[in-house]
This record gives sequence, C-alpha cells and structure tokens, in this order.
Amino acid sequence: MNDNLGTGHKVLKREIVVTADGSTSLKIPELDEMYHSKKGAVQESQFVYIDHGMSLTKKPKIDILEIGMGTGLNVALTIKQASANSVSINYDTLEPYPLTKAEQLSLNYEEILGLPVGMMSQIHNSNTDNQINADFNLSVYVQKLEDWEANQLYDVIYFDAFAPNKQKGPWVLSNLKKLYACLKAGGVLTTYCAQGQFKRDLKSIGFEVTNPPGPMGKREITVAYK
Ligand SMILES: C[S@@+](CC[C@H](N)C(=O)[O-])C[C@H]1O[C@@H](n2cnc3c(N)ncnc32)[C@H](O)[C@@H]1O
Repeated sequence: MNDNLGTGHKVLKREIVVTADGSTSLKIPELDEMYHSKKGAVQESQFVYIDHGMSLTKKPKIDILEIGMGTGLNVALTIKQASANSVSINYDTLEPYPLTKAEQLSLNYEEILGLPVGMMSQIHNSNTDNQINADFNLSVYVQKLEDWEANQLYDVIYFDAFAPNKQKGPWVLSNLKKLYACLKAGGVLTTYCAQGQFKRDLKSIGFEVTNPPGPMGKREITVAYK
C-alpha cells in the first residue's frame, strides 16, 4: 500500500485509458488502481456523485466538497447539472497530486460532455474562488484531506479517494469525523465505496448509512446522511 502516491517530488506514474462508455480516465499501474470504473467513467461518476449526491439536495444554492478532484470529471458533471437546473454551486475540491498539462489535454470530457473548449483547462488551473460561469464558483486546494481544515459547512460531500485497500489515509476515522463535522444537518456524503469497515465507521460517527445498488452491475454504493 502506498499512502503518499508520490515519494518526495515524484508522483506515481499515471496512464490514460479509455473506458467502456468512450470516456477517458487515468490508471496508476503501480497500485493497479483506476480513477474511475473501466466500465464507464462518465456513467459511474454521473450515477454516484450527481444522481446520488448533488441531485438529492433540492436547494437553489448548494455547497459541495469533493475529496480527490483528479481528472476534474465530477466538477464538469456538476457544472452541467447546475446549468441544466438553474442551481448555483459553491464547489471546494482537494487534490494533492494535480494532473500535468499533458494529462489534462489527453482527457476527452469537453468533447464527450459538450462543454465549451477550454473549460477543463480553466478547472485545472483554478485556485481559490474562481467563477467558472455565472452559476459555479470553484476553489481547488492542493492538499490532502488529512491536512485540510474546513472553514464552512457543506450540503454534499463527494468522497472520491482511491479505494481503502490501496490508500488508507483518507479513510481513517479521524478524517471521516472531519467530514461529518463539516456537513450540514440533513447533508449527504456519497461514494462508490461500500467497504464493510468504512460503513461501520460512518455509523459509529452518527451517519445514517444507506447502500443503494451501484452502477453497471456494481453491488452497492454508499450514500450517508447527517
Ligand atoms: C479515484 S481518484 C479521483 C477521481 C476524481 N474525482 C476524478 O473524477 O477524476 C482519487 C483522487 O484522490 C486524490 N488523492 C490522493 N490522496 C488524497 C488525499 N490524501 N486527500 C485527498 N485526495 C487525495 C488522488 O490524487 C486522485 O486524484
């Protein structure tokens, strides 16, 4: 297991892959770990984070926290959803290992999602308080969850770290407590992960844990409420 994903100045090697729905993703061969399901990056992310996260919150203005921005796919899907539903979004995301320019340019999300040319680059080049469009304010923190402290409360948390058997750090109890503390009452945390210990930990903190069937044949995902 590698909890750093980067040793010193060297980030683990990543490869571009095309998933079954035609959308691109990244793989870390050394960990044998994908950023998204091989069965479809866009389909998986839309299902887990938009349909079972953002869309559960019926508010005109939604505060979202993402753990692991990676390719920026969840950001892009959230921008699309916000525009389609006239919802205003404040989106904070953590990413300790940002993509290189070459990796950014190898992804096909603008084409596949019909986004304006240059939007993905705008996302990846964001720091704090960037107005991507009239409905979407983005802050990117080049930080690990372990080192980050919230300064506001969120309606929705997209917990999209690598799997706990590949990277333990983000999933430890102290971090889950941190996420519970920065979630608004009635807020929701959603993730593709449905590992037993993770679900027990969420319950022990006070989350109400549900496990809807997952996308593309996956048995279940986790949607946890405060
Ligand atoms: C499953 S991938 C992310 C998928 C991403 N949401 C996307 O759509 O591409 C996990 C991400 O978590 C990031 N990450 C790694 N360690 C982290 C940590 N300690 N805290 C927060 N994010 C971390 C990785 O660099 C990677 O980008």
